[in-house]
Amino acid sequence: MAKSPMDTLQLSCIQVAIALLLFTQAKSTTEGTSALLPDEAIPSCVAGERSALLAFRAGLSDPANLLSSWKGDGCCRWKGVYCSNRTSHVVKLDLRGSGYTIDADSRKVLAGNISSSLLGLRHLRYLDLSSNEFDKMQIPEFIGSLHKLTYLDLSMSMFIGRVPPQLGNLSNLQYLNLAYNSDGIYSTDITWLSRLTSVEHLDMTWVNLSTIVHWLPVVNMLPTLKFLRLNSCQLRTSPDSLQLSNLTSLEALLLAGNHMAHFQTR
Ligand SMILES: *[C@@H]1O[C@H](CO)[C@@H](O)[C@H](O)[C@H]1NC(C)=O
Ligand SMILES: *[C@@H]1O[C@H](CO)[C@@H](O)[C@H](O)[C@H]1NC(C)=O
Ligand SMILES: *[C@@H]1O[C@H](CO)[C@@H](O)[C@H](O)[C@H]1NC(C)=O
Ligand SMILES: *[C@@H]1O[C@H](CO)[C@@H](O)[C@H](O)[C@H]1NC(C)=O
Ligand SMILES: *[C@@H]1O[C@H](CO)[C@@H](O)[C@H](O)[C@H]1NC(C)=O
Repeated sequence: MAKSPMDTLQLSCIQVAIALLLFTQAKSTTEGTSALLPDEAIPSCVAGERSALLAFRAGLSDPANLLSSWKGDGCCRWKGVYCSNRTSHVVKLDLRGSGYTIDADSRKVLAGNISSSLLGLRHLRYLDLSSNEFDKMQIPEFIGSLHKLTYLDLSMSMFIGRVPPQLGNLSNLQYLNLAYNSDGIYSTDITWLSRLTSVEHLDMTWVNLSTIVHWLPVVNMLPTLKFLRLNSCQLRTSPDSLQLSNLTSLEALLLAGNHMAHFQTR
């Protein structure tokens, strides 16, 4: 039976409420982990990882001089670089730009190329390259080899082309955000998603999924999923029935901006 407009409206309100709740929670958890170390406790640096960071920087273009602190031996003190205080290994790289600010003068972004020298950071768990301007560049396949990643944010950075299925190798990933890149970003086969067996937050907003017919069985393989946003993904097939049987942790399902024929219950 097709849903009435009133049911659809109610569903949207519930979605919005759940999304708001979730964002509040997400905010408090990220704030809780941001201050990693007091200044005097910052470890110095593993030499090989310092070289990897410098090689990565060499491929970037940095017109706003965001990485001016990237000099000297103590790479754990460089802006955006966070090391484990136990092992001194780089565990977090937070290079979020400010590409989507309203005030053009305060826009500060990285551009250029993402060098595979990042693979030298073998203990990296957290990588945020969002809100930069990697104009007309594909998401590099090698990112799928950063096996320890639990957090990967590549949103709002003007990536184009195919989302590399190698990302499916990131079995520790809990957070994946590919939203709001250019409209030329796509995936024609999303079976790689089913291998993200730890993922809780998945946002593919604007990724062109127009050729994907059976997307629900794929996400149904992700029992840890709490947040799923597939807004404006050009999905044309609505699920015949909402068999969310496996998705017992799901708190928010956002599917706005798709031209699905209708949404059926049962
Ligand atoms: C460093 O790590 C140890 C063990 O993980 C922890 O107990 C300690 O509180 C940490 N020190 C700082 C300054 O964060
Ligand atoms: C990025 O790579 C392209 C092609 O190899 C090259 O033309 C360009 O100069 C590189 N950009 C930077 C900032 O190194
Ligand atoms: C990563 O994934 C790709 C494509 O999904 C696969 O062909 C490749 O063997 C995987 N590599 C590793 C190191 O697991
Ligand atoms: C999305 O992908 C389909 C199939 O590859 C293509 O025909 C369509 O033009 C794409 N849409 C956009 C907005 O790029
Ligand atoms: C539910 O998830 C498990 C583990 O991810 C998977 O093996 C199973 O096929 C899924 N069931 C359905 C109905 O998709």
